[in-house]
Amino acid sequence: MTRTVYVNGEYLPETEATVSIFDRGFLMADGVYEVTSVLDGKLIDFEGHAVRLERSLNELEMPAACSKEELLEIHRELVKRNEIVEGLVYLQITRGSDGDRDFVFPDPETTKPSIVLFTQNKPGLADNPAAKKGAKIISIEDIRWGRRDIKTVQLLYPSMGKMMAKKAGADDAWLIEDGYVTEGTSNNAYFVKKGKIVTRPLSNDILHGITRKAVLRMAEEAQMEVEERLFTIDEAKEADEAFTTSASAFVMPVVEIDGVALGDGTPGPIAKRLREIYLDESMKAAI
Ligand code: PDD
Repeated sequence: MTRTVYVNGEYLPETEATVSIFDRGFLMADGVYEVTSVLDGKLIDFEGHAVRLERSLNELEMPAACSKEELLEIHRELVKRNEIVEGLVYLQITRGSDGDRDFVFPDPETTKPSIVLFTQNKPGLADNPAAKKGAKIISIEDIRWGRRDIKTVQLLYPSMGKMMAKKAGADDAWLIEDGYVTEGTSNNAYFVKKGKIVTRPLSNDILHGITRKAVLRMAEEAQMEVEERLFTIDEAKEADEAFTTSASAFVMPVVEIDGVALGDGTPGPIAKRLREIYLDESMKAAI
């Protein structure tokens, strides 16, 4: 089935969708994005993603391409047209094209942002076998820019990090800056020691994960202890268990860090429990 995608006001077959070669997203990574998961044909935490999108746009002085209501309508229409039961909706807004290349931002009065959305069909997203096995991660240096709280499309280093992990026989990488773990290449990072969940506090150093916010709330509601503080990779290696969170993988247990097995080398009870709670509650609240 040819996917139907959304580009600047139109629903089109993916083969007919185009953006300008002068688009600043293409030339300068001058754009932001969101990834919203779909379970049972419904959107998970659309509101959270819409609020973060608005924040990313504001931080970059980029005009909104459309209202939140229109965005919801487009998400739902794409899910419907592409018959997505389990999968993802990718949304990207760039500063658009003024028909040339210039470092200076174009005048927002005359240059409209580009907006693109498409779906990714992922049957088995909730019942993911990778979550039953758990992820092996390596640690690498975090050399990204200093505004990781803005969800920009500058994903070259995260891609390189995933490739470094792949070459090392692992599934993903955690990033280290000034001796402390920031986050994963495309997820937030946690470890658990003696029942306490530890994760880095929010700042410009990490993306303010929508799944992170929900999972920390759910952990506290389930009487689990949570501490937001800086932590080292050595602490994580000595942990009882570890996990990551993201909209595309929910709660993903981590079973190995830099070749060191955590606990008995299988997904830990807290990560497994949080994954269950997250999936259950998110599906109930999905729209
Ligand atoms: N990545 N940190 C980084 C660097 C991320 O790229 C992501 C999400 C997260 C988790 O955020 P959330 O819970 O809102 O998905 C943390 C998405 C899924 C991606 O790039 O595909």
